[in-house]
Amino acid sequence: MSRPSVLIIEDDPALRALEARLATAAGFEVHLAEDGAQGIAMAVQLRPQLIVSDYHLPGMKAPEILATIRRLPDLAAVPVLVATAEPPDRVGPELSRLGASGLICKPFQPQAFRKQLREALGLDREAPAPATAPAAPSGPSALVLIMAAAMESPGSTETDATLRHLRRVSLLGAALGQTLDLDPELVRGLAEYGPLHDIGKVSLPMRLVRGGHRFTPQERAEMESHTLLGAELLRQAGVPPIAHQIALSHHERWDGAGYPRGLSGEGIPLAARVIAAVDVYDAMRSHRPYRPDIPKDEVRRRVAELRGSHLDPRVVDALLRIEDVTENIFAEHGDPSAEPDPEVWR
Ligand SMILES: [Fe+2]
Repeated sequence: MSRPSVLIIEDDPALRALEARLATAAGFEVHLAEDGAQGIAMAVQLRPQLIVSDYHLPGMKAPEILATIRRLPDLAAVPVLVATAEPPDRVGPELSRLGASGLICKPFQPQAFRKQLREALGLDREAPAPATAPAAPSGPSALVLIMAAAMESPGSTETDATLRHLRRVSLLGAALGQTLDLDPELVRGLAEYGPLHDIGKVSLPMRLVRGGHRFTPQERAEMESHTLLGAELLRQAGVPPIAHQIALSHHERWDGAGYPRGLSGEGIPLAARVIAAVDVYDAMRSHRPYRPDIPKDEVRRRVAELRGSHLDPRVVDALLRIEDVTENIFAEHGDPSAEPDPEVWR
Protein backbone atom coordinates (compact mmCIF):
# COMPACT_ATOMS: atom_id res chain seq x y z
CA MET A 1 0.00 0.00 0.00
CA SER A 2 1.15 3.53 -0.72
CA ARG A 3 2.99 5.71 1.75
CA PRO A 4 1.77 9.23 2.58
CA SER A 5 3.41 11.83 0.36
CA VAL A 6 5.19 15.01 1.41
CA LEU A 7 6.45 17.86 -0.73
CA ILE A 8 9.48 19.61 0.78
CA ILE A 9 10.26 23.13 -0.48
CA GLU A 10 13.76 24.14 0.63
CA ASP A 11 16.43 26.13 -1.23
CA ASP A 12 19.43 25.05 0.88
CA PRO A 13 20.74 21.83 -0.74
CA ALA A 14 22.19 20.37 2.47
CA LEU A 15 19.04 21.06 4.46
CA ARG A 16 16.86 19.76 1.62
CA ALA A 17 18.80 16.49 1.60
CA LEU A 18 18.58 16.19 5.40
CA GLU A 19 14.82 16.83 5.46
CA ALA A 20 14.32 14.34 2.62
CA ARG A 21 16.23 11.69 4.57
CA LEU A 22 14.26 12.30 7.75
CA ALA A 23 10.91 12.32 5.95
CA THR A 24 11.78 9.05 4.23
CA ALA A 25 12.71 7.56 7.62
CA ALA A 26 9.35 8.76 8.97
CA GLY A 27 7.61 6.67 6.30
CA PHE A 28 6.87 9.32 3.67
CA GLU A 29 7.17 9.30 -0.09
CA VAL A 30 9.24 12.46 -0.62
CA HIS A 31 9.12 15.08 -3.39
CA LEU A 32 11.55 18.00 -3.44
CA ALA A 33 11.32 21.56 -4.74
CA GLU A 34 13.99 24.26 -4.62
CA ASP A 35 11.84 27.40 -4.57
CA GLY A 36 8.28 28.60 -4.17
CA ALA A 37 7.31 28.65 -7.84
CA GLN A 38 8.57 25.11 -8.38
CA GLY A 39 6.92 24.05 -5.12
CA ILE A 40 3.49 25.36 -6.13
CA ALA A 41 3.77 23.79 -9.60
CA MET A 42 4.70 20.42 -8.06
CA ALA A 43 1.94 20.69 -5.45
CA VAL A 44 -0.66 21.26 -8.18
CA GLN A 45 0.66 18.32 -10.18
CA LEU A 46 1.30 15.84 -7.35
CA ARG A 47 -1.35 16.85 -4.80
CA PRO A 48 0.81 15.75 -1.84
CA GLN A 49 -0.81 14.97 1.49
CA LEU A 50 1.59 17.24 3.35
CA ILE A 51 3.77 20.23 2.42
CA VAL A 52 6.83 21.37 4.35
CA SER A 53 8.06 24.78 3.22
CA ASP A 54 11.05 26.87 4.24
CA TYR A 55 10.09 30.43 5.23
CA HIS A 56 12.75 32.39 3.32
CA LEU A 57 12.88 31.18 -0.26
CA PRO A 58 14.23 32.94 -3.33
CA GLY A 59 11.53 35.02 -5.02
CA MET A 60 8.62 33.91 -2.86
CA LYS A 61 8.35 33.50 0.92
CA ALA A 62 6.19 31.03 2.80
CA PRO A 63 3.22 33.44 3.36
CA GLU A 64 2.86 33.93 -0.39
CA ILE A 65 3.15 30.19 -1.03
CA LEU A 66 0.51 29.51 1.62
CA ALA A 67 -1.88 32.13 0.28
CA THR A 68 -1.55 30.67 -3.24
CA ILE A 69 -2.04 27.08 -2.08
CA ARG A 70 -5.10 27.92 0.03
CA ARG A 71 -6.82 29.43 -3.02
CA LEU A 72 -6.48 26.18 -5.01
CA PRO A 73 -9.47 23.88 -4.36
CA ASP A 74 -7.42 20.67 -4.63
CA LEU A 75 -4.87 21.92 -2.12
CA ALA A 76 -6.99 24.04 0.20
CA ALA A 77 -7.03 21.43 2.98
CA VAL A 78 -3.48 20.06 2.64
CA PRO A 79 -1.58 20.62 5.89
CA VAL A 80 1.42 22.95 5.47
CA LEU A 81 4.28 23.11 7.97
CA VAL A 82 6.63 26.09 7.73
CA ALA A 83 10.28 25.65 8.73
CA THR A 84 11.85 28.84 10.03
CA ALA A 85 14.54 30.29 12.26
CA GLU A 86 12.39 33.40 12.79
CA PRO A 87 10.92 33.85 16.29
CA PRO A 88 7.55 32.03 16.36
CA ASP A 89 5.76 35.00 17.92
CA ARG A 90 6.88 37.22 15.01
CA VAL A 91 5.84 35.02 12.07
CA GLY A 92 3.43 32.55 13.72
CA PRO A 93 0.23 34.66 13.81
CA GLU A 94 0.41 35.62 10.12
CA LEU A 95 1.23 32.05 9.04
CA SER A 96 -1.58 30.68 11.17
CA ARG A 97 -4.04 33.20 9.67
CA LEU A 98 -2.95 32.07 6.21
CA GLY A 99 -3.69 28.46 7.09
CA ALA A 100 -0.32 27.01 8.18
CA SER A 101 -0.73 23.87 10.27
CA GLY A 102 2.39 24.48 12.35
CA LEU A 103 5.95 25.79 12.60
CA ILE A 104 9.12 23.73 12.48
CA CYS A 105 11.61 25.80 14.47
CA LYS A 106 15.14 25.77 13.08
CA PRO A 107 17.49 24.36 14.10
CA PHE A 108 15.39 21.24 14.65
CA GLN A 109 16.18 17.90 16.21
CA PRO A 110 15.83 15.02 13.69
CA GLN A 111 13.45 13.11 15.93
CA ALA A 112 11.26 16.19 16.48
CA PHE A 113 11.14 16.83 12.72
CA ARG A 114 9.98 13.27 11.98
CA LYS A 115 7.41 13.46 14.78
CA GLN A 116 6.00 16.78 13.53
CA LEU A 117 5.57 15.39 10.01
CA ARG A 118 3.72 12.31 11.19
CA GLU A 119 1.58 14.24 13.64
CA ALA A 120 0.59 16.73 10.93
CA LEU A 121 -1.17 13.84 9.18
CA GLY A 122 -2.47 12.29 12.39
CA LEU A 123 -0.31 9.22 11.86
CA ASP A 124 0.40 6.92 14.77
CA ARG A 125 3.58 7.66 16.60
CA GLU A 126 6.84 5.86 15.89
CA ALA A 127 7.87 5.40 19.53
CA PRO A 128 6.40 2.74 21.83
CA ALA A 129 3.45 3.74 23.97
CA PRO A 130 4.22 5.66 27.14
CA ALA A 131 3.35 3.96 30.42
CA THR A 132 0.69 6.53 31.27
CA ALA A 133 -2.89 5.79 30.32
CA PRO A 134 -4.47 8.12 27.77
CA ALA A 135 -6.69 10.82 29.21
CA ALA A 136 -10.40 10.16 28.84
CA PRO A 137 -11.55 12.10 25.78
CA SER A 138 -14.36 14.53 26.43
CA GLY A 139 -15.95 14.64 22.94
CA PRO A 140 -17.73 17.59 21.41
CA SER A 141 -19.88 19.95 23.43
CA ALA A 142 -23.65 19.43 23.49
CA LEU A 143 -24.08 22.61 21.45
CA VAL A 144 -21.76 21.37 18.69
CA LEU A 145 -23.55 18.01 18.63
CA ILE A 146 -26.98 19.60 18.38
CA MET A 147 -25.90 21.90 15.57
CA ALA A 148 -24.26 19.02 13.69
CA ALA A 149 -27.38 16.87 14.15
CA ALA A 150 -29.66 19.70 12.96
CA MET A 151 -27.42 20.11 9.92
CA GLU A 152 -27.68 16.40 9.07
CA SER A 153 -31.48 16.40 9.42
CA PRO A 154 -32.38 19.60 7.56
CA GLY A 155 -35.91 20.88 7.78
CA SER A 156 -36.72 18.62 10.74
CA THR A 157 -36.81 19.02 14.49
CA GLU A 158 -36.55 15.22 14.87
CA THR A 159 -32.81 15.12 15.39
CA ASP A 160 -32.83 12.45 18.12
CA ALA A 161 -31.56 9.60 15.94
CA THR A 162 -28.86 11.78 14.40
CA LEU A 163 -27.75 12.98 17.83
CA ARG A 164 -27.43 9.39 19.03
CA HIS A 165 -25.46 8.50 15.88
CA LEU A 166 -23.05 11.42 16.39
CA ARG A 167 -22.53 10.54 20.07
CA ARG A 168 -21.76 6.95 19.07
CA VAL A 169 -19.28 8.12 16.40
CA SER A 170 -17.50 10.18 19.06
CA LEU A 171 -17.43 7.37 21.64
CA LEU A 172 -16.60 4.57 19.18
CA GLY A 173 -13.89 6.70 17.54
CA ALA A 174 -12.24 7.40 20.88
CA ALA A 175 -12.55 3.76 22.01
CA LEU A 176 -10.98 2.56 18.76
CA GLY A 177 -8.20 5.15 19.05
CA GLN A 178 -7.38 3.96 22.56
CA THR A 179 -7.45 0.31 21.48
CA LEU A 180 -5.06 1.14 18.65
CA ASP A 181 -2.82 2.80 21.26
CA LEU A 182 -2.84 6.12 19.45
CA ASP A 183 -1.46 9.33 20.85
CA PRO A 184 -3.87 10.83 23.45
CA GLU A 185 -4.06 14.02 21.38
CA LEU A 186 -5.22 11.99 18.37
CA VAL A 187 -7.78 10.12 20.51
CA ARG A 188 -9.14 13.45 21.71
CA GLY A 189 -9.32 14.64 18.09
CA LEU A 190 -11.34 11.55 17.12
CA ALA A 191 -13.79 12.15 19.96
CA GLU A 192 -14.14 15.84 19.28
CA TYR A 193 -14.07 16.06 15.49
CA GLY A 194 -15.23 12.60 14.37
CA PRO A 195 -18.90 13.66 14.70
CA LEU A 196 -18.24 16.57 12.31
CA HIS A 197 -17.17 14.31 9.43
CA ASP A 198 -20.26 15.16 7.36
CA ILE A 199 -20.35 18.88 8.21
CA GLY A 200 -19.85 19.74 4.51
CA LYS A 201 -23.43 18.60 3.81
CA VAL A 202 -24.56 21.92 5.25
CA SER A 203 -23.38 23.50 1.99
CA LEU A 204 -25.43 21.14 -0.22
CA PRO A 205 -29.04 21.59 -1.42
CA MET A 206 -31.55 20.16 1.07
CA ARG A 207 -33.08 17.80 -1.52
CA LEU A 208 -29.70 16.03 -1.81
CA VAL A 209 -29.06 15.72 1.92
CA ARG A 210 -32.57 14.40 2.62
CA GLY A 211 -32.11 11.82 -0.17
CA GLY A 212 -34.96 9.39 -0.72
CA HIS A 213 -34.33 9.00 -4.43
CA ARG A 214 -31.67 7.49 -6.66
CA PHE A 215 -28.95 10.05 -7.48
CA THR A 216 -28.12 11.03 -11.04
CA PRO A 217 -24.35 10.95 -11.79
CA GLN A 218 -24.28 14.73 -11.41
CA GLU A 219 -26.11 14.60 -8.07
CA ARG A 220 -23.75 11.89 -6.87
CA ALA A 221 -20.73 14.04 -7.73
CA GLU A 222 -22.35 16.96 -5.94
CA MET A 223 -23.05 14.78 -2.91
CA GLU A 224 -19.47 13.51 -2.84
CA SER A 225 -18.24 17.10 -2.71
CA HIS A 226 -19.39 17.27 0.94
CA THR A 227 -15.92 15.96 1.79
CA LEU A 228 -14.15 18.92 0.15
CA LEU A 229 -16.71 21.44 1.40
CA GLY A 230 -16.46 20.13 4.97
CA ALA A 231 -12.67 20.23 4.97
CA GLU A 232 -12.70 23.80 3.73
CA LEU A 233 -15.31 24.88 6.31
CA LEU A 234 -13.27 23.39 9.13
CA ARG A 235 -10.03 24.84 7.82
CA GLN A 236 -11.59 28.30 7.77
CA ALA A 237 -12.85 27.74 11.31
CA GLY A 238 -9.21 27.37 12.40
CA VAL A 239 -9.68 23.96 14.08
CA PRO A 240 -6.77 21.46 14.23
CA PRO A 241 -5.81 19.66 10.97
CA ILE A 242 -7.22 16.33 12.22
CA ALA A 243 -10.72 17.83 11.81
CA HIS A 244 -10.24 18.61 8.10
CA GLN A 245 -8.49 15.30 7.52
CA ILE A 246 -11.51 13.42 8.84
CA ALA A 247 -13.99 15.51 6.83
CA LEU A 248 -11.90 15.31 3.68
CA SER A 249 -10.94 11.63 3.73
CA HIS A 250 -13.66 9.64 5.55
CA HIS A 251 -14.93 8.26 2.20
CA GLU A 252 -11.50 7.14 0.98
CA ARG A 253 -11.10 3.36 0.84
CA TRP A 254 -8.11 1.25 1.86
CA ASP A 255 -7.99 -0.23 -1.67
CA GLY A 256 -7.97 3.20 -3.33
CA ALA A 257 -11.52 3.03 -4.74
CA GLY A 258 -12.92 5.82 -2.56
CA TYR A 259 -13.23 9.59 -2.96
CA PRO A 260 -12.47 12.48 -3.26
CA ARG A 261 -8.79 11.78 -3.99
CA GLY A 262 -8.61 8.00 -4.43
CA LEU A 263 -5.99 7.67 -1.68
CA SER A 264 -5.09 4.17 -0.51
CA GLY A 265 -3.60 2.34 2.46
CA GLU A 266 -1.57 4.43 4.88
CA GLY A 267 -1.81 7.29 2.41
CA ILE A 268 -5.21 7.93 4.01
CA PRO A 269 -4.87 9.89 7.27
CA LEU A 270 -5.27 7.46 10.18
CA ALA A 271 -8.02 9.52 11.84
CA ALA A 272 -10.09 9.29 8.64
CA ARG A 273 -9.52 5.50 8.48
CA VAL A 274 -10.81 5.15 12.05
CA ILE A 275 -13.90 7.30 11.47
CA ALA A 276 -14.62 5.51 8.16
CA ALA A 277 -14.76 2.17 10.03
CA VAL A 278 -16.88 3.63 12.82
CA ASP A 279 -19.29 5.24 10.34
CA VAL A 280 -19.71 2.04 8.30
CA TYR A 281 -20.18 -0.08 11.44
CA ASP A 282 -22.64 2.37 12.98
CA ALA A 283 -24.68 2.66 9.78
CA MET A 284 -25.09 -1.12 9.68
CA ARG A 285 -26.06 -1.30 13.36
CA SER A 286 -28.53 1.57 13.11
CA HIS A 287 -32.27 1.32 12.63
CA ARG A 288 -33.41 2.29 9.14
CA PRO A 289 -37.10 2.59 8.21
CA TYR A 290 -36.51 1.13 4.74
CA ARG A 291 -34.90 -2.18 5.80
CA PRO A 292 -35.08 -4.72 8.59
CA ASP A 293 -32.53 -4.16 11.38
CA ILE A 294 -29.40 -6.27 11.03
CA PRO A 295 -28.41 -8.55 13.96
CA LYS A 296 -25.12 -7.53 15.54
CA ASP A 297 -23.31 -10.77 14.69
CA GLU A 298 -24.24 -10.26 11.05
CA VAL A 299 -22.89 -6.69 11.25
CA ARG A 300 -19.60 -8.05 12.64
CA ARG A 301 -19.40 -10.54 9.79
CA ARG A 302 -20.08 -7.88 7.15
CA VAL A 303 -17.52 -5.45 8.65
CA ALA A 304 -14.93 -8.25 8.75
CA GLU A 305 -15.55 -8.77 5.03
CA LEU A 306 -14.56 -5.14 4.36
CA ARG A 307 -11.13 -5.73 5.95
CA GLY A 308 -8.46 -4.79 3.40
CA SER A 309 -10.92 -3.67 0.72
CA HIS A 310 -12.97 -0.77 2.04
CA LEU A 311 -11.44 -0.55 5.51
CA ASP A 312 -7.98 -0.59 7.15
CA PRO A 313 -7.44 -4.20 8.34
CA ARG A 314 -5.76 -3.08 11.58
CA VAL A 315 -8.68 -0.77 12.40
CA VAL A 316 -11.25 -3.49 11.64
CA ASP A 317 -9.37 -5.96 13.85
CA ALA A 318 -9.39 -3.45 16.71
CA LEU A 319 -13.09 -2.72 16.21
CA LEU A 320 -13.99 -6.40 16.33
CA ARG A 321 -11.82 -6.83 19.46
CA ILE A 322 -13.78 -4.32 21.54
CA GLU A 323 -17.20 -5.94 21.38
CA ASP A 324 -17.84 -5.29 25.10
CA VAL A 325 -17.18 -1.59 24.64
CA THR A 326 -19.33 -1.26 21.52
CA GLU A 327 -22.21 -3.12 23.21
CA ASN A 328 -22.04 -0.74 26.18
CA ILE A 329 -22.11 2.25 23.83
CA PHE A 330 -25.10 0.86 21.92
CA ALA A 331 -26.88 -0.08 25.17
CA GLU A 332 -26.67 3.54 26.30
CA HIS A 333 -26.89 5.43 23.01
CA GLY A 334 -28.42 2.94 20.55
CA ASP A 335 -31.65 3.35 18.60
CA PRO A 336 -34.81 2.40 20.50
CA SER A 337 -35.56 -0.64 18.29
CA ALA A 338 -32.55 -2.48 19.68
CA GLU A 339 -32.01 -6.12 18.82
CA PRO A 340 -34.02 -7.24 15.78
CA ASP A 341 -36.07 -10.35 15.57
CA PRO A 342 -33.90 -12.77 13.52
CA GLU A 343 -37.04 -14.26 11.98
CA VAL A 344 -38.11 -10.87 10.67
CA TRP A 345 -34.61 -10.14 9.40
CA ARG A 346 -34.48 -13.34 7.38
FE1 LIG B 1 -19.78 11.51 4.54
